[in-house]
Amino acid sequence: DDWHVHVRDAELMASVLRFSTYTSRQMLLMPNLVPPLTTEEMVAEYLSRVGIQHLKDWVIAPPTRFYAALFLHRTTSARDIRNAAINPMIISGKFYPDGGTTNSSSQLTSPRDLRLEVLEAMEEVGMVLCLHGEVVEAEEPDPLLREVAFIKYLDWLVTNFPKLKIVVEHVSDRRMVHHVLNLPETVAMTITSHHPFLTHTDALNDPHCNCMPVAKTETDRECLASTVLTAAWTPKIISGTDTAPHPVPDKKAGKAGVWSAGVHASVLWDHFATSGGDDKFEAFVAFTSGNGARFYGLEMSPEMRGEITFVRQRWQVPEIYEGIVPWKAGEILDWRVKGMEWFGITA
Ligand code: NCD
Ligand code: ZN
Repeated sequence: DDWHVHVRDAELMASVLRFSTYTSRQMLLMPNLVPPLTTEEMVAEYLSRVGIQHLKDWVIAPPTRFYAALFLHRTTSARDIRNAAINPMIISGKFYPDGGTTNSSSQLTSPRDLRLEVLEAMEEVGMVLCLHGEVVEAEEPDPLLREVAFIKYLDWLVTNFPKLKIVVEHVSDRRMVHHVLNLPETVAMTITSHHPFLTHTDALNDPHCNCMPVAKTETDRECLASTVLTAAWTPKIISGTDTAPHPVPDKKAGKAGVWSAGVHASVLWDHFATSGGDDKFEAFVAFTSGNGARFYGLEMSPEMRGEITFVRQRWQVPEIYEGIVPWKAGEILDWRVKGMEWFGITA
């Protein structure tokens, strides 16, 4: 599973979707398109475009479930939430701090700007609140401090909406990790496949490692790298890769996002295999499929879940694919996902 995915739209979607469907049987698609997906109708139309592309990608399309998040805007109403909740594929509402990342003009400076009726409706219908847990630039100019500064808003949500299910997305700061672990079980977190391996220095040196929230210090990186390994006994720890492709000119113009879909499984498994304990298999399975599905109440039968095979075989990540530079471009990885040949492109 992948509980945080950007498969974009149109030509970009046509280039990247197949990578995610190769490794995930179910995924949660993010709504930060242009224009953002703020209504049930917009999400439903988007999901049908995704479904059509999926069928075009494969001779026999893998049975994949595409869930989506509704984009929460200052103007979102309780009615919008109730309408969206009728669609079984819309399982969450996504909060973005205005201008905090790619296509995030929500006009919300914090979750406190949401209408209270929206949060009440989400709590009532059981729609999960997915948080891009950072404050806006005007509140904290330093990107390295924007996640820790968000903790007070998370606490406000937990105190006032105790039954609301919340996922803090792509945690990057050790203080947020520890905080979420100490909150009630209604609050979980996703960890991407790149934050456990990157620091702020990497993001500064390589635009293809630059994402929001920006990777932090070596101590934060170590915290994330060790936290994912505990997933077998910590149900709050969920894999959401945040694979976020941008064409090269957009990356050069400073757009944030790491395109990890073709490499994340190899990189993650390598980490579990190298650094995991006796429970490395259980931990990998819990992180990448069990924990998220259980939190969302969307567990799959074993037949539906399918399987993934890792082969210990060195391979070189292509430098570029259809105008998009992958994470780890040109690097040699030790594990290959069986059968995933990058669709005819070899380095
Ligand atoms: C994401 C994108 O490009 O859509 N970028 C990123 O750096 N992670 C948006 C997001 O999840 O913040
Ligand atoms: Zn994202």
